[in-house]
Amino acid sequence: MIDAPQPKVEPRAEALALRRTIVLVGLMGAGKTSVGKRLATLLGVPFTDSDTRIVEAAGMSIPEIFASLGEPAFRDGERRVIARLLAERPGVLATGGGAFIEPRTRAEIGEYGTSVWLRADVETLWERVRNRPGRPLLQTADPKATLADLDRRRSPVYALADIIVDSRRGVSHETMARAIVAAVLAWDRGRPGWPPTLEGAGEAES
Ligand code: S3P
Repeated sequence: MIDAPQPKVEPRAEALALRRTIVLVGLMGAGKTSVGKRLATLLGVPFTDSDTRIVEAAGMSIPEIFASLGEPAFRDGERRVIARLLAERPGVLATGGGAFIEPRTRAEIGEYGTSVWLRADVETLWERVRNRPGRPLLQTADPKATLADLDRRRSPVYALADIIVDSRRGVSHETMARAIVAAVLAWDRGRPGWPPTLEGAGEAES
């Protein structure tokens, strides 16, 4: 008997019936925005970057917000923007590196989203951020040491995410995005209300 070649099944929003927004968390340089865009395209759902929304709402760049209003004001705006985005139709949301560290923001994400920590080692992160200005927290005498310190302090909190996916150098955004789809599917299956009803899937599409 000759086996017919199996058609390649592409994960699609309809198949996944994405019930909650996938929220990408992790340090600067983890690839939240680039992987997030790929993931959203793969699933056929909207992509949003919370930093971009904050900048639009404030009419200022992130360094300007930090300089003129201070980090607490930035964190407050970030929390409100993320809460609003989580109330929209399910999609992919890339967050700034400090968002998940804030207890109230983390609680909102826990309530309404599926959090995914894109975990990367400091060398990988540093290679990605070293030549990109615009990150006020890295405006220090030794930004690499600052990044390593943030990694040490924040990793135990990022580890509270629902799902952890490693972001390694040389691994394509496509591969990462597919790993996230598989992990989210497996995670969601263990939650109440699976499988989603056809009506539920229809609602997710509207
Ligand atoms: C921050 C990360 C930045 C941005 C802000 C603060 C942080 O976002 O939100 O500069 O606290 O780690 P990215 O992680 O997208 O660089």
